[in-house]
Amino acid sequence: MRLKNKRALVTGASRGIGRAIAERFLEEGAAVWGLSTKEPEDLDDWKARAGGALRWVCADLGALPETEALAAALVKEAGGFDILVNNAGLTRDGLSFRMSLADFQKVLDVNLTAAFLLARAVGFDMARRRQGGSIISMASVVGLHGNAGQANYAASKAALVGLSKTLALECAGRGVRVNAIAPGFIDSDMTRALSPSVTQKMLERIPLGRFGVPGDVAALALFLASDESAYLTGQVIAVDGGMCL
Ligand SMILES: NC(=O)c1ccc[n+]([C@@H]2O[C@H](COP(=O)([O-])OP(=O)(O)OC[C@H]3O[C@@H](n4cnc5c(N)ncnc54)[C@H](O)[C@@H]3O)[C@@H](O)[C@H]2O)c1
Repeated sequence: MRLKNKRALVTGASRGIGRAIAERFLEEGAAVWGLSTKEPEDLDDWKARAGGALRWVCADLGALPETEALAAALVKEAGGFDILVNNAGLTRDGLSFRMSLADFQKVLDVNLTAAFLLARAVGFDMARRRQGGSIISMASVVGLHGNAGQANYAASKAALVGLSKTLALECAGRGVRVNAIAPGFIDSDMTRALSPSVTQKMLERIPLGRFGVPGDVAALALFLASDESAYLTGQVIAVDGGMCL
């Protein structure tokens, strides 16, 4: 029960990586606020299994003025969070020269600006309460190395790394730690949308010889959320099977 008595807000928790993180946090004793655009289909079952420790919020984080107000309301409702996982994210791929302003902006709004608004509201409250805290943002190896066809996504993920390092410096004095995770290719709805030929090429680049699963990322998120990582802040850790070596 490494997260006993901790309150965690996990965005994008309805499926994929966010779902695995929320499940893992619940197993370890945390009370979890899950957030996504749509409720997971099995929410009632999941809530019953979690025995009152899971609450759900449906919201479009890309609706920015509302996101700012929502962040404040959630902090108030929960009485403050000990853990924030900025995991919600989306792609709108296309080559840069053909990418519309709307597609560029949409990805930045959800992946970056909403993460900033949540980290600001949750982090400010953590600092005020002086109980420590852990903020984790889901970046990507694409943000560290670039990827043709993903200028908007790569820019958002690179910026999340800069945001995390800056917040780490600003919050360290209050014991709040801020880190980022950079997954490689993780099996989820997001990557299942790619063509088989792209998927095969990716697999050939992974020294460990398999795609990641959401649980691989959740294991690191648990470590970063728990006191076991008490001396880590401002880091970006890749979970990519060695893909970027
Ligand atoms: N799957 C991968 O290979 C991979 C690699 C690197 C980084 N990531 C990052 O990990 C995170 C999770 O990815 P995944 O593969 O589980 O994706 P996914 O598409 O399976 O799940 C995305 C989640 O984000 C939520 N979401 C999307 N847009 C939202 C919005 N506007 N408002 C609120 N919630 C919204 C969805 O409801 C869903 O719960 C993302 O930030 C993604 O960029 C994934």
